[in-house]
Amino acid sequence: MQKLKIGVLASGSGSNLQAIIDEAAAGLLPVEIVMVLSDKPDAYALTRAEQAGIMTAVVLPKDYATREEYDARVVKLLTLAGAEAVALAGYLRIVTKTLLDAFPGRVLNIHPALLPAFPGLHGQRQAFEYGVKVAGCTVHFVDEGLDSGPIILQAPVPVLDDDDEETLTARILQQEHIIYPLALKLLAEGKLTVEGRKVRISD
Ligand code: GAR
Repeated sequence: MQKLKIGVLASGSGSNLQAIIDEAAAGLLPVEIVMVLSDKPDAYALTRAEQAGIMTAVVLPKDYATREEYDARVVKLLTLAGAEAVALAGYLRIVTKTLLDAFPGRVLNIHPALLPAFPGLHGQRQAFEYGVKVAGCTVHFVDEGLDSGPIILQAPVPVLDDDDEETLTARILQQEHIIYPLALKLLAEGKLTVEGRKVRISD
Protein backbone atom coordinates (compact mmCIF):
# COMPACT_ATOMS: atom_id res chain seq x y z
CA MET A 1 0.00 0.00 0.00
CA GLN A 2 1.11 3.56 -0.78
CA LYS A 3 2.32 5.30 2.37
CA LEU A 4 0.83 8.62 3.46
CA LYS A 5 3.56 11.23 3.79
CA ILE A 6 3.13 13.24 6.97
CA GLY A 7 4.83 16.14 8.69
CA VAL A 8 4.83 16.10 12.50
CA LEU A 9 4.83 19.37 14.45
CA ALA A 10 6.06 19.06 18.04
CA SER A 11 7.16 21.43 20.80
CA GLY A 12 8.17 19.03 23.55
CA SER A 13 9.33 15.58 24.47
CA GLY A 14 7.88 13.90 21.42
CA SER A 15 6.66 10.66 23.00
CA ASN A 16 3.67 10.68 20.64
CA LEU A 17 6.08 11.21 17.75
CA GLN A 18 8.04 8.21 19.03
CA ALA A 19 4.89 6.07 19.10
CA ILE A 20 4.23 6.98 15.46
CA ILE A 21 7.87 6.31 14.48
CA ASP A 22 7.80 2.91 16.21
CA GLU A 23 4.50 1.77 14.71
CA ALA A 24 5.59 2.83 11.24
CA ALA A 25 8.95 1.06 11.66
CA ALA A 26 7.13 -2.09 12.77
CA GLY A 27 5.13 -2.03 9.54
CA LEU A 28 1.86 -1.45 11.42
CA LEU A 29 1.24 2.08 10.17
CA PRO A 30 1.31 3.00 6.46
CA VAL A 31 2.81 6.47 6.96
CA GLU A 32 6.19 7.97 6.22
CA ILE A 33 7.24 10.90 8.40
CA VAL A 34 8.92 13.25 5.93
CA MET A 35 9.68 16.04 8.41
CA VAL A 36 9.55 16.84 12.12
CA LEU A 37 9.25 20.57 12.67
CA SER A 38 9.42 22.45 15.95
CA ASP A 39 9.04 25.98 17.27
CA LYS A 40 11.48 25.07 20.06
CA PRO A 41 15.12 24.42 19.12
CA ASP A 42 15.67 22.30 22.26
CA ALA A 43 12.59 20.08 21.84
CA TYR A 44 13.54 16.46 22.52
CA ALA A 45 11.21 15.54 19.65
CA LEU A 46 13.94 16.81 17.30
CA THR A 47 16.48 14.43 18.84
CA ARG A 48 14.06 11.53 18.44
CA ALA A 49 13.59 12.46 14.79
CA GLU A 50 17.33 12.67 14.16
CA GLN A 51 17.82 9.28 15.80
CA ALA A 52 15.23 7.86 13.41
CA GLY A 53 16.87 9.53 10.39
CA ILE A 54 13.97 11.91 9.80
CA MET A 55 14.55 15.41 8.41
CA THR A 56 14.03 18.14 11.02
CA ALA A 57 13.36 21.87 10.91
CA VAL A 58 13.06 24.62 13.50
CA VAL A 59 10.99 27.72 12.81
CA LEU A 60 11.36 30.37 15.49
CA PRO A 61 8.22 32.40 16.26
CA LYS A 62 10.29 35.51 17.04
CA ASP A 63 11.38 35.69 13.39
CA TYR A 64 7.81 36.26 12.14
CA ALA A 65 5.53 39.25 12.66
CA THR A 66 2.26 37.29 12.55
CA ARG A 67 1.02 33.75 13.10
CA GLU A 68 0.05 33.63 9.41
CA GLU A 69 3.57 34.50 8.27
CA TYR A 70 4.93 31.90 10.65
CA ASP A 71 2.55 29.26 9.28
CA ALA A 72 3.35 30.25 5.68
CA ARG A 73 6.98 29.30 6.39
CA VAL A 74 5.87 26.05 8.03
CA VAL A 75 3.70 25.21 5.01
CA LYS A 76 6.58 25.92 2.64
CA LEU A 77 8.94 23.57 4.51
CA LEU A 78 6.34 20.81 4.87
CA THR A 79 5.35 21.06 1.22
CA LEU A 80 8.97 20.96 0.05
CA ALA A 81 9.44 17.83 2.15
CA GLY A 82 6.45 16.27 0.37
CA ALA A 83 4.02 16.18 3.28
CA GLU A 84 0.41 15.32 2.39
CA ALA A 85 -0.94 15.56 5.93
CA VAL A 86 0.12 17.06 9.26
CA ALA A 87 0.08 15.60 12.76
CA LEU A 88 0.32 17.99 15.69
CA ALA A 89 1.98 16.07 18.51
CA GLY A 90 2.40 18.21 21.60
CA TYR A 91 2.63 21.29 19.39
CA LEU A 92 1.89 24.20 21.68
CA ARG A 93 0.95 26.79 19.06
CA ILE A 94 -2.43 27.67 17.64
CA VAL A 95 -2.38 26.98 13.91
CA THR A 96 -3.95 29.40 11.45
CA LYS A 97 -6.06 29.12 8.30
CA THR A 98 -2.81 29.41 6.34
CA LEU A 99 -1.76 25.94 7.48
CA LEU A 100 -5.26 24.45 7.43
CA ASP A 101 -5.91 25.62 3.85
CA ALA A 102 -2.67 24.02 2.68
CA PHE A 103 -3.72 20.61 4.05
CA PRO A 104 -7.54 20.65 3.92
CA GLY A 105 -9.06 17.98 6.19
CA ARG A 106 -5.60 16.60 6.79
CA VAL A 107 -4.39 18.22 9.99
CA LEU A 108 -4.79 16.10 13.13
CA ASN A 109 -4.15 16.82 16.81
CA ILE A 110 -3.92 14.80 20.00
CA HIS A 111 -5.33 16.36 23.14
CA PRO A 112 -4.93 14.97 26.68
CA ALA A 113 -8.60 15.26 27.71
CA LEU A 114 -11.99 14.01 26.60
CA LEU A 115 -13.01 16.95 24.42
CA PRO A 116 -15.05 19.12 24.43
CA ALA A 117 -14.10 19.11 28.13
CA PHE A 118 -10.87 20.81 29.11
CA PRO A 119 -9.52 22.30 25.87
CA GLY A 120 -6.35 24.39 25.85
CA LEU A 121 -3.21 23.90 27.89
CA HIS A 122 -2.80 21.21 30.56
CA GLY A 123 -5.98 19.25 29.81
CA GLN A 124 -4.94 16.53 32.26
CA ARG A 125 -4.41 19.05 35.07
CA GLN A 126 -7.74 20.72 34.36
CA ALA A 127 -9.53 17.35 34.49
CA PHE A 128 -7.71 16.24 37.66
CA GLU A 129 -8.41 19.51 39.46
CA TYR A 130 -12.05 19.48 38.36
CA GLY A 131 -12.43 16.10 40.02
CA VAL A 132 -13.64 14.02 37.08
CA LYS A 133 -13.89 10.27 37.58
CA VAL A 134 -13.02 9.54 33.95
CA ALA A 135 -10.28 11.45 32.14
CA GLY A 136 -8.81 10.52 28.76
CA CYS A 137 -7.54 11.73 25.44
CA THR A 138 -8.87 12.70 22.03
CA VAL A 139 -7.58 12.68 18.45
CA HIS A 140 -9.42 15.21 16.32
CA PHE A 141 -9.24 17.04 13.04
CA VAL A 142 -7.99 20.57 13.53
CA ASP A 143 -10.17 23.54 12.66
CA GLU A 144 -9.73 27.22 13.39
CA GLY A 145 -11.03 26.92 16.96
CA LEU A 146 -9.22 25.79 20.08
CA ASP A 147 -9.28 21.96 20.16
CA SER A 148 -12.73 22.13 18.55
CA GLY A 149 -12.53 20.10 15.33
CA PRO A 150 -14.42 16.85 14.58
CA ILE A 151 -13.45 13.98 16.88
CA ILE A 152 -11.83 10.91 15.35
CA LEU A 153 -11.03 8.70 18.37
CA GLN A 154 -11.17 8.98 22.13
CA ALA A 155 -9.87 6.79 24.94
CA PRO A 156 -11.18 6.97 28.53
CA VAL A 157 -8.83 6.75 31.50
CA PRO A 158 -10.38 6.20 34.95
CA VAL A 159 -9.12 8.51 37.69
CA LEU A 160 -7.98 6.38 40.65
CA ASP A 161 -8.33 7.38 44.30
CA ASP A 162 -4.57 7.58 44.78
CA ASP A 163 -3.83 9.38 41.49
CA ASP A 164 -1.98 12.64 41.43
CA GLU A 165 -1.63 14.80 38.34
CA GLU A 166 1.59 13.02 37.38
CA THR A 167 0.29 9.44 37.57
CA LEU A 168 -2.90 10.38 35.72
CA THR A 169 -0.91 12.19 33.02
CA ALA A 170 1.29 9.10 32.54
CA ARG A 171 -1.71 6.78 32.08
CA ILE A 172 -3.37 9.21 29.67
CA LEU A 173 -0.12 9.35 27.69
CA GLN A 174 -0.11 5.54 27.36
CA GLN A 175 -3.52 5.78 25.71
CA GLU A 176 -2.39 8.66 23.49
CA HIS A 177 0.35 6.39 22.17
CA ILE A 178 -2.32 3.87 21.13
CA ILE A 179 -5.01 6.10 19.61
CA TYR A 180 -2.80 8.55 17.72
CA PRO A 181 -1.09 5.96 15.52
CA LEU A 182 -4.47 4.26 15.07
CA ALA A 183 -6.14 7.50 13.91
CA LEU A 184 -3.27 8.12 11.48
CA LYS A 185 -3.64 4.57 10.17
CA LEU A 186 -7.35 5.18 9.52
CA LEU A 187 -6.50 8.45 7.74
CA ALA A 188 -3.77 6.81 5.66
CA GLU A 189 -6.13 4.00 4.66
CA GLY A 190 -8.78 6.51 3.56
CA LYS A 191 -11.25 5.26 6.16
CA LEU A 192 -12.23 8.62 7.66
CA THR A 193 -15.15 10.66 6.33
CA VAL A 194 -16.24 13.91 7.93
CA GLU A 195 -19.96 14.70 7.90
CA GLY A 196 -20.52 17.94 9.79
CA ARG A 197 -19.19 17.34 13.29
CA LYS A 198 -19.22 13.55 12.88
CA VAL A 199 -16.30 11.49 11.69
CA ARG A 200 -17.40 8.20 10.17
CA ILE A 201 -14.96 5.32 10.24
CA SER A 202 -15.41 2.71 7.53
CA ASP A 203 -13.97 -0.76 7.93
C1 GAR B 1 0.66 15.19 25.11
O1 GAR B 1 0.05 14.82 26.32
C2 GAR B 1 -0.34 15.87 24.21
O2 GAR B 1 -1.63 15.34 24.29
C3 GAR B 1 -0.29 17.27 24.75
O3 GAR B 1 1.07 17.52 24.99
C4 GAR B 1 1.69 16.29 25.34
C5 GAR B 1 2.90 16.11 24.45
O4 GAR B 1 3.63 14.97 24.83
N1 GAR B 1 -0.86 18.20 23.82
C6 GAR B 1 -1.55 19.27 24.22
O5 GAR B 1 -1.75 19.55 25.37
C7 GAR B 1 -2.09 20.12 23.07
N2 GAR B 1 -3.13 20.99 23.55
P1 GAR B 1 4.75 14.41 23.86
O6 GAR B 1 5.61 15.60 23.44
O7 GAR B 1 5.53 13.46 24.76
O8 GAR B 1 4.08 13.72 22.71
